[in-house]
Amino acid sequence: MKISPSILAADLTDLKTILKNLSKTMVDYLHLDVMDSHFVPQLSFGESYSLQISKITSIPLDIHLMVSNPEKEVPKYFVSKPKIISFHIEASSSPIRLAQTIRSEGILAGIAINPATPIERIEPLLDEIDLILLMSVEPGYCGQTFLPRSLARIRNLKSIISSRDGGKIYLEVDGGIHKENIKTIWEAGADIAVAGSACFTNSDVNSNVQKLKDECVPAPS
Ligand code: DX5
Ligand code: ZN
Repeated sequence: MKISPSILAADLTDLKTILKNLSKTMVDYLHLDVMDSHFVPQLSFGESYSLQISKITSIPLDIHLMVSNPEKEVPKYFVSKPKIISFHIEASSSPIRLAQTIRSEGILAGIAINPATPIERIEPLLDEIDLILLMSVEPGYCGQTFLPRSLARIRNLKSIISSRDGGKIYLEVDGGIHKENIKTIWEAGADIAVAGSACFTNSDVNSNVQKLKDECVPAPS
Protein backbone atom coordinates (compact mmCIF):
# COMPACT_ATOMS: atom_id res chain seq x y z
CA MET A 1 0.00 0.00 0.00
CA LYS A 2 1.31 3.44 -0.85
CA ILE A 3 0.59 6.30 1.54
CA SER A 4 -0.19 9.89 0.62
CA PRO A 5 -0.22 12.06 3.77
CA SER A 6 -2.66 14.96 3.52
CA ILE A 7 -0.97 18.17 4.69
CA LEU A 8 -4.38 19.61 5.55
CA ALA A 9 -3.99 17.88 8.92
CA ALA A 10 -0.46 19.28 9.45
CA ASP A 11 0.54 22.48 11.20
CA LEU A 12 0.66 24.65 8.09
CA THR A 13 2.59 27.37 9.92
CA ASP A 14 5.47 24.94 10.34
CA LEU A 15 5.20 23.05 7.07
CA LYS A 16 8.74 23.74 5.91
CA THR A 17 10.22 21.96 8.94
CA ILE A 18 7.76 19.10 8.58
CA LEU A 19 8.55 18.63 4.89
CA LYS A 20 12.29 18.69 5.46
CA ASN A 21 11.96 15.80 7.93
CA LEU A 22 9.96 13.53 5.63
CA SER A 23 11.74 10.43 4.39
CA LYS A 24 11.49 10.05 0.63
CA THR A 25 11.78 6.30 0.92
CA MET A 26 8.86 6.13 3.36
CA VAL A 27 6.42 8.79 2.15
CA ASP A 28 5.20 7.93 -1.35
CA TYR A 29 3.30 11.11 -2.20
CA LEU A 30 2.27 14.37 -0.59
CA HIS A 31 -1.49 14.97 -0.81
CA LEU A 32 -2.45 18.63 -1.30
CA ASP A 33 -6.13 19.34 -0.63
CA VAL A 34 -7.14 22.45 -2.56
CA MET A 35 -10.52 23.76 -1.37
CA ASP A 36 -12.27 26.79 -2.84
CA SER A 37 -15.07 27.53 -0.35
CA HIS A 38 -17.55 26.92 -3.18
CA PHE A 39 -17.41 23.26 -4.20
CA VAL A 40 -16.71 22.53 -0.51
CA PRO A 41 -17.36 24.86 2.46
CA GLN A 42 -13.74 25.46 3.44
CA LEU A 43 -10.93 27.45 1.86
CA SER A 44 -7.42 25.98 2.06
CA PHE A 45 -4.68 27.12 -0.31
CA GLY A 46 -4.09 27.51 -4.01
CA GLU A 47 -1.56 27.30 -6.80
CA SER A 48 1.10 29.61 -5.33
CA TYR A 49 1.30 27.62 -2.08
CA SER A 50 1.46 24.42 -4.11
CA LEU A 51 4.33 25.85 -6.17
CA GLN A 52 6.24 26.82 -3.03
CA ILE A 53 5.81 23.30 -1.64
CA SER A 54 7.12 21.81 -4.87
CA LYS A 55 10.32 23.82 -4.40
CA ILE A 56 11.08 22.51 -0.92
CA THR A 57 10.34 18.80 -1.33
CA SER A 58 11.18 16.11 -3.85
CA ILE A 59 8.29 13.89 -2.71
CA PRO A 60 5.87 13.57 -5.65
CA LEU A 61 2.86 15.85 -5.26
CA ASP A 62 -0.66 14.41 -5.38
CA ILE A 63 -2.99 17.38 -5.90
CA HIS A 64 -6.66 16.92 -5.00
CA LEU A 65 -8.73 19.78 -6.39
CA MET A 66 -12.01 20.20 -4.51
CA VAL A 67 -13.01 23.16 -6.64
CA SER A 68 -15.80 24.30 -8.90
CA ASN A 69 -14.91 24.88 -12.55
CA PRO A 70 -11.83 22.62 -12.63
CA GLU A 71 -11.47 23.39 -16.36
CA LYS A 72 -10.29 26.85 -15.32
CA GLU A 73 -8.33 25.84 -12.19
CA VAL A 74 -6.41 22.69 -13.24
CA PRO A 75 -3.89 24.38 -15.62
CA LYS A 76 -2.73 26.69 -12.80
CA TYR A 77 -1.16 23.65 -11.10
CA PHE A 78 0.93 22.41 -14.06
CA VAL A 79 3.82 24.65 -13.04
CA SER A 80 4.13 22.75 -9.72
CA LYS A 81 4.97 19.64 -11.79
CA PRO A 82 2.89 17.25 -9.67
CA LYS A 83 2.79 13.51 -10.19
CA ILE A 84 -1.03 13.41 -9.98
CA ILE A 85 -3.85 15.93 -10.40
CA SER A 86 -7.35 14.78 -9.46
CA PHE A 87 -10.49 16.81 -10.09
CA HIS A 88 -14.08 15.99 -9.15
CA ILE A 89 -16.48 14.37 -11.60
CA GLU A 90 -19.30 16.30 -9.87
CA ALA A 91 -17.64 19.62 -10.72
CA SER A 92 -16.46 19.06 -14.27
CA SER A 93 -18.35 20.03 -17.42
CA SER A 94 -15.93 18.26 -19.80
CA PRO A 95 -14.05 15.59 -17.83
CA ILE A 96 -12.71 13.68 -20.84
CA ARG A 97 -11.08 16.76 -22.37
CA LEU A 98 -9.74 17.85 -18.97
CA ALA A 99 -8.18 14.43 -18.28
CA GLN A 100 -6.58 14.52 -21.75
CA THR A 101 -5.14 17.97 -21.03
CA ILE A 102 -3.62 16.76 -17.74
CA ARG A 103 -2.08 13.72 -19.43
CA SER A 104 -0.65 15.84 -22.23
CA GLU A 105 1.45 17.58 -19.53
CA GLY A 106 2.94 14.22 -18.47
CA ILE A 107 0.88 14.26 -15.25
CA LEU A 108 -1.31 11.36 -14.10
CA ALA A 109 -4.99 12.26 -14.49
CA GLY A 110 -7.19 11.37 -11.54
CA ILE A 111 -10.96 11.56 -11.24
CA ALA A 112 -12.32 12.11 -7.72
CA ILE A 113 -15.76 10.85 -6.77
CA ASN A 114 -17.90 11.75 -3.77
CA PRO A 115 -19.55 9.12 -1.53
CA ALA A 116 -23.06 9.81 -2.87
CA THR A 117 -22.15 9.73 -6.57
CA PRO A 118 -22.85 6.44 -8.40
CA ILE A 119 -19.57 4.86 -9.50
CA GLU A 120 -21.07 4.10 -12.94
CA ARG A 121 -20.49 7.78 -13.76
CA ILE A 122 -16.78 7.02 -14.06
CA GLU A 123 -17.10 4.26 -16.65
CA PRO A 124 -17.12 6.55 -19.72
CA LEU A 125 -13.80 8.00 -18.51
CA LEU A 126 -11.85 4.82 -17.94
CA ASP A 127 -9.75 5.09 -21.10
CA GLU A 128 -8.79 8.67 -20.31
CA ILE A 129 -7.67 8.46 -16.68
CA ASP A 130 -4.78 6.97 -14.66
CA LEU A 131 -6.32 7.06 -11.20
CA ILE A 132 -9.63 7.09 -9.33
CA LEU A 133 -9.74 9.05 -6.06
CA LEU A 134 -12.61 7.49 -4.15
CA MET A 135 -13.83 9.70 -1.32
CA SER A 136 -14.63 7.70 1.80
CA VAL A 137 -15.91 10.84 3.60
CA GLU A 138 -17.74 13.89 2.29
CA PRO A 139 -14.95 16.17 1.07
CA GLY A 140 -14.16 19.32 3.01
CA TYR A 141 -12.60 18.44 6.35
CA CYS A 142 -10.00 16.13 7.80
CA GLY A 143 -10.68 14.04 10.89
CA GLN A 144 -14.00 12.59 9.73
CA THR A 145 -15.13 8.97 10.14
CA PHE A 146 -14.65 6.50 7.28
CA LEU A 147 -18.03 5.74 5.69
CA PRO A 148 -18.45 1.93 5.89
CA ARG A 149 -20.31 1.83 2.57
CA SER A 150 -17.03 2.84 0.89
CA LEU A 151 -15.67 -0.70 1.24
CA ALA A 152 -18.23 -2.09 -1.20
CA ARG A 153 -17.50 0.80 -3.56
CA ILE A 154 -13.75 0.02 -3.46
CA ARG A 155 -14.40 -3.66 -4.25
CA ASN A 156 -16.80 -2.75 -7.01
CA LEU A 157 -14.39 -0.30 -8.63
CA LYS A 158 -11.48 -2.71 -8.24
CA SER A 159 -13.37 -5.38 -10.12
CA ILE A 160 -14.35 -2.94 -12.90
CA ILE A 161 -10.72 -1.78 -13.23
CA SER A 162 -9.21 -5.28 -13.16
CA SER A 163 -11.59 -6.77 -15.70
CA ARG A 164 -10.93 -4.21 -18.43
CA ASP A 165 -8.23 -4.16 -21.08
CA GLY A 166 -6.02 -1.11 -21.24
CA GLY A 167 -3.55 0.73 -19.04
CA LYS A 168 -3.34 0.45 -15.27
CA ILE A 169 -5.74 2.58 -13.27
CA TYR A 170 -4.72 3.18 -9.65
CA LEU A 171 -7.33 3.23 -6.92
CA GLU A 172 -6.73 5.85 -4.24
CA VAL A 173 -9.00 6.14 -1.19
CA ASP A 174 -9.35 9.36 0.80
CA GLY A 175 -10.85 10.08 4.21
CA GLY A 176 -11.02 8.56 7.68
CA ILE A 177 -8.15 6.08 7.16
CA HIS A 178 -6.13 5.02 10.20
CA LYS A 179 -4.25 2.08 11.66
CA GLU A 180 -7.43 0.27 12.66
CA ASN A 181 -9.10 0.17 9.23
CA ILE A 182 -6.30 0.42 6.64
CA LYS A 183 -5.88 -3.33 6.27
CA THR A 184 -9.52 -3.82 5.30
CA ILE A 185 -9.23 -0.97 2.79
CA TRP A 186 -6.06 -2.50 1.33
CA GLU A 187 -7.67 -5.95 1.12
CA ALA A 188 -10.69 -4.41 -0.63
CA GLY A 189 -8.35 -3.25 -3.41
CA ALA A 190 -6.92 0.21 -2.67
CA ASP A 191 -3.45 0.96 -4.11
CA ILE A 192 -2.93 4.31 -2.36
CA ALA A 193 -4.35 5.52 0.97
CA VAL A 194 -4.63 9.22 1.78
CA ALA A 195 -4.23 9.82 5.50
CA GLY A 196 -4.33 13.20 7.21
CA SER A 197 -5.02 12.87 10.94
CA ALA A 198 -3.32 9.46 11.15
CA CYS A 199 -0.06 10.92 9.77
CA PHE A 200 0.05 14.29 11.52
CA THR A 201 -1.27 13.61 15.04
CA ASN A 202 2.28 14.01 16.33
CA SER A 203 5.50 15.19 14.71
CA ASP A 204 6.75 11.71 13.78
CA VAL A 205 5.21 11.51 10.33
CA ASN A 206 7.68 8.92 8.97
CA SER A 207 6.93 6.53 11.78
CA ASN A 208 3.16 7.11 11.44
CA VAL A 209 3.41 6.24 7.75
CA GLN A 210 5.45 3.14 8.60
CA LYS A 211 2.81 2.03 11.10
CA LEU A 212 0.09 2.33 8.45
CA LYS A 213 2.16 0.29 5.99
CA ASP A 214 2.94 -2.34 8.61
CA GLU A 215 -0.78 -3.10 8.89
CA CYS A 216 -0.98 -4.03 5.22
CA VAL A 217 0.63 -7.43 5.25
CA PRO A 218 -1.08 -10.72 4.47
CA ALA A 219 -2.06 -12.79 7.50
CA PRO A 220 0.25 -15.78 8.11
CA SER A 221 -1.04 -19.01 6.58
C1 DX5 B 1 -11.12 15.66 2.84
C2 DX5 B 1 -9.74 15.61 2.23
C3 DX5 B 1 -8.89 14.55 2.80
C4 DX5 B 1 -8.59 14.74 4.26
C5 DX5 B 1 -8.11 13.44 4.87
O1 DX5 B 1 -11.86 16.60 2.22
O2 DX5 B 1 -9.84 15.39 0.84
O3 DX5 B 1 -7.70 14.40 2.05
O4 DX5 B 1 -7.65 15.74 4.49
O5 DX5 B 1 -7.96 13.61 6.24
P1 DX5 B 1 -8.26 12.43 7.29
O6 DX5 B 1 -7.29 11.32 6.97
O7 DX5 B 1 -8.02 13.06 8.60
O8 DX5 B 1 -9.69 11.99 7.07
ZN1 ZN C 1 -8.00 14.79 -0.31
